[in-house]
Amino acid sequence: MENKELIRLALEARERAYVPYSHYQVGAALLAKNGMVYQGCNIENAAYTPTNCAERTAFFKAVSEGEREFEAIAIVGGYAGAPTGYAYPCGVCRQVMMEFCDPKSFRVITAVSEEAYLEKTLEEMLPHGFGPSDLNGG
Ligand code: THU
Repeated sequence: MENKELIRLALEARERAYVPYSHYQVGAALLAKNGMVYQGCNIENAAYTPTNCAERTAFFKAVSEGEREFEAIAIVGGYAGAPTGYAYPCGVCRQVMMEFCDPKSFRVITAVSEEAYLEKTLEEMLPHGFGPSDLNGG
C-alpha cells in the first residue's frame, strides 16, 4: 500500500478522536504485513490516565484480532482543522511498537497531509530499544 493511502486512512481515523479534554485529535493507520489496515484514534477519559493514544488503539485492535506482523504506521495529529505540524508517537506507543515490530524495518510515517510526511524506522525513533529478544524466550 502507498504511504499516501495509509495517511488518508489516518486522517479519516482522526475524525473519530474522542478528545473532550485536550482537544488534540490524533489518528493512526497501522498496516499489517498481510495488507490489512487497522485504524485508531485517541480516546480520552475524565480520569485522564485511562486515555489511550491513537497508535495504541490501532495496535490493540489489530493484536486482538490476531494480527502480529506489521509493516508501517501513519500518524496525524493536531487541534481542530488540518494538521499543521508533525505528531510523533509518545514513548509508551514506541515501546508498544517495539513489542510487535522489527525495529530495522518497521516504518513510522508522521504526516501533515497525504503529500507532506516524514518517514523513519522504529529503530530511529527508539534507539537501543528494549524488546522481546532481550528476555529469555523472546
Ligand atoms: N496522543 C496520541 O494519541 N498519540 C501520541 O503519540 C501522543 C499523544 C494523544 C493523547 C491525548 O489524548 C492527546 O494526544 C494529548 O496528549
